[in-house]
Order: sequence, then C-alpha cells, then structure tokens
Amino acid sequence: MTTTDPSRLEGATALDVDTLRFPPDFVWGAATAAFQIEGSISADGRTPSIWDTFAATPGKVLNGDNGEPACDHYNRSAEDVELMERLGLAAYRFSVAWPRIVPAADGVVEPRGLAFYDRLVDQLLAKGIQPVATLYHWDLPQWLEDEGGWRNRDTAYRFAEYAKVVHGHLGDRVKLWSTLNEPWCSAFLGHHKGIHAPGLKDSQASLEAMHHLLLAHGLATRAMREQAADDHKFSLVLNFTQAWADNDDTASKDVVRKVDGLHNRIFLDPVLGKGYPADVVEDVAWLGDWQRVVQDGDLDVIATPIDFLGVNYYSPTRVAPAADPEVVTDGPFPGLRGAELLDPRGELTSFGWEQNADAFAELLTRLGRDVDGLPIVITENGSAFTDVVADDGGVDDPQRVAFLLDHLRAVHRAIESGADIRGYLAWSLLDNFEWAEGYSQRFGVVRVDYETQERTVKRSGEVLARIIGRNSIPATGYDVE
Ligand code: FCB
Repeated sequence: MTTTDPSRLEGATALDVDTLRFPPDFVWGAATAAFQIEGSISADGRTPSIWDTFAATPGKVLNGDNGEPACDHYNRSAEDVELMERLGLAAYRFSVAWPRIVPAADGVVEPRGLAFYDRLVDQLLAKGIQPVATLYHWDLPQWLEDEGGWRNRDTAYRFAEYAKVVHGHLGDRVKLWSTLNEPWCSAFLGHHKGIHAPGLKDSQASLEAMHHLLLAHGLATRAMREQAADDHKFSLVLNFTQAWADNDDTASKDVVRKVDGLHNRIFLDPVLGKGYPADVVEDVAWLGDWQRVVQDGDLDVIATPIDFLGVNYYSPTRVAPAADPEVVTDGPFPGLRGAELLDPRGELTSFGWEQNADAFAELLTRLGRDVDGLPIVITENGSAFTDVVADDGGVDDPQRVAFLLDHLRAVHRAIESGADIRGYLAWSLLDNFEWAEGYSQRFGVVRVDYETQERTVKRSGEVLARIIGRNSIPATGYDVE
C-alpha cells in the first residue's frame, strides 16, 4: 500500500480560493444501523438481541423506548433507497442484524432474514448506490448473551461463522465489508460503564470482552477473505476521540496519553499488528489479569490485514490530572486512574457533546500518519439537535449544517496534510433509535415522524446533496447553493 499523495487533491484544484474540492474519487454517503432503524423485531423469525432485553429492562432506555417501530425500515427500504437516490448518495452503510440470520443456539440460518438484506442490496444496486455492510452494530443475539456473550471466547468463533454466511450470501453484490462497529462501546459502555447492553459493570470483564471482540474481528476477516473475490475490501470501524488537556505539563501529557490509550490505541494498535500497547496494559494492570484470555496466536489473528479503517468521530475528550494520581476516574474507561474528565465546552449538541472540528482535523492528521498508508473512510460523523418543524412541514437545521461543513473542512485539511481519506458517510441518513437515549436524539439529515413514519429531508440533507453534487464545499460560511 502506498502512502498518501496529497496531490490527489490536485486533480481537484480549487476553481477559486473559496472552494475546497475533494479528490475526484471521494465517496459520499450516509450510514445507519439495523437495530436503530429496522423495527419489525419479531418478523420473519428474528429473535431478541441484547438491545431488546436491555430496552425491556426498566430504567435502561430513556422513556422506556425500544426497537419498535424505529423507522419501520424493514417494510420501507424501497422508499428509503429512493430517498438516498434523491440525496445523490454514492454509498450507503447499513448493518446486518445477527438475530435475523442466526436466531437460535442451533445455529440454523434463517433464509427470511437473509432475504431482507437481499432486497435491500438489490434496491441499492438498482439505484447505483454502493452497499457497505457492517456485520455487527451491537445487536448480539440474546441466545449468545445467555452463553456469556462477549465474555465467552466462543462468541468470537460464532461471529466468524455468521460473517461467513452473510458474506457468502451477499458477496456476489456487496464488495465493502466491516466486521464490528465501535467495539469500544460494546466492551466498555456495555460491560464496564453499564449504560449499553448487556449493562454490566465489571471492569475486568470489559477488557476480556474487548479481546474477544477483536478476536472476532480477526477471525471473521480471515473467514471472509478465504472465500472473497479479489475486489472485496474488509475493515473494522473504530470510534476515536481526541484527548485534550489545557496544559502542557508532564502530568497533563500523561493523562492525555492514558485516555488516548484506553480510547484509541488499545483497539487500533493490535489491529495494526503492534499488540496491546505496553503503557496501557500497565495502566490497567491493577484491575486484574484480563490477559489470561489472550491465547497464543490471538494477536496474529487480530492483526489480519484489513483494506481500510472505518473512523467514527463525534467529539473530543477534555482531561486534566486529578489531585490524587491513584484515584479511580468515574467514566467509561476501565482502569483509568488519576485523570479528571472535564465538561465539554462551547455550544453543545442536544446530546451534550462538544462540537469541535479542530479536534477532528488533528485526530485525522495524526491517524493518517499512524495507520501507515491504510486508507481511511469516515464511516460516521454527525450531530443531534432538537429540530423544529415549520408550518410548511420543512425542517431548517442550521446547527447541523454548520457541524457538517465545519467537519468536512476538517476532513479536507487532513487530506491536505497527507491523510488518505477515501470517503465520508454522514451519521445518519434518518433520525433513529439512539440507544440509551431512545428516540430523543435526532441525528438524521432526514427527519422521521415516528407516528406517521413520514420522512422529510432536512435542510442539512439538501446541503449534503449539493455538496455531493459538487464534490466540494465553500471554504467559509454556511451557505451551499
Ligand atoms: C455511534 C454509534 C451510532 C450512533 C452514533 C450517534 O457511537 O455507532 O450507532 O448511535 O454514535
């Protein structure tokens, strides 16, 4: 693989100084995930996932919301693909629901589950939209959780079998594949912090789950690669943050190192063949011997080469040294000590997340160097705001438009600095079920009325469509005509 040549942008030289053009082959699209949009949770043989169980547990999901009706996408995929065509998307990232494909412990494959994704893929291809399939976006079959879920090594092997089935079935039409979405969330929010399914608060178990998730990624990549056509490309989608401290002293640098380690490097380094980072392993050693689950050969499996890295980014993490270096930090990072997680700054999204495109640019520039020539695709980036529906039914969402443009400028800056970024997939196509926040957080560039299931393209959706049509953005301002 060659390292990036920033002259990729030259073919796209600015027509005027106010225009930032993207490389001619840059891929524009949007992303969703099965549990967040499909609904029809009992249709065609699907059995519950850990998110159905979690949502059914009082107090876990805001307002008691659950996977019904979501966006009723299971019944409306044709209409949704037409919307994608209207927006001019070149690619669409969706996830496959494991409990639709392998609903029970007997491992028997459910053909009606596969048939849904057949229809979706065919609808996409008929409109010239490239499908990008993610095999696991957090909806572990409950029957596997009952056997220990990601704490059980066997789940990794079950995942590879399932990946082989789906890839074998759709691989004649789908060329771009991701194994897992954001294993950081599955492992740490799900098993340490307990705010995502399965809702455990066991720090050591969260690190063991992390290892099994990474093993699952490697095993599945190998299994699919063995049966793949030459033009198939495999990836892992990780969520990154940029850790920032206000000061530059040794103690501040050290907490930045720790948070960066527990958010970014502990997942990325083993995938890049560097093993678990020694400093992070040392930081969390006091939790117990989670590495007892690491067997000979596992790190080779995890380092199975991938063809691109999926990067999801939403916000930075601000940190400062805690007064007591031994104090355990309350937060999503297992084993983190001596760090204080600071409040986000500036005008926040409705989720309470900091909007910071400079952090994104810095992160991408650094990743561009760290991944040593591995192409990057932005597989998620977006913002939640409380949308207002005007009397004429339109949704003007200037904050989401500003977020989109600022973050695309960051992507452009990173490409200029040499990062090999091949595409940008907005999160999300549709408003949807936002996990523990239920339906309260709207990330879509298309509004969904959950009562009527009516879809309305927001102004951010129109802006995205214009950007895609031009393959460029204005260097300043928030108008894209
Ligand atoms: C990411 C998830 C995605 C969505 C966004 C807002 O962490 O991958 O499903 O919830 O956050």
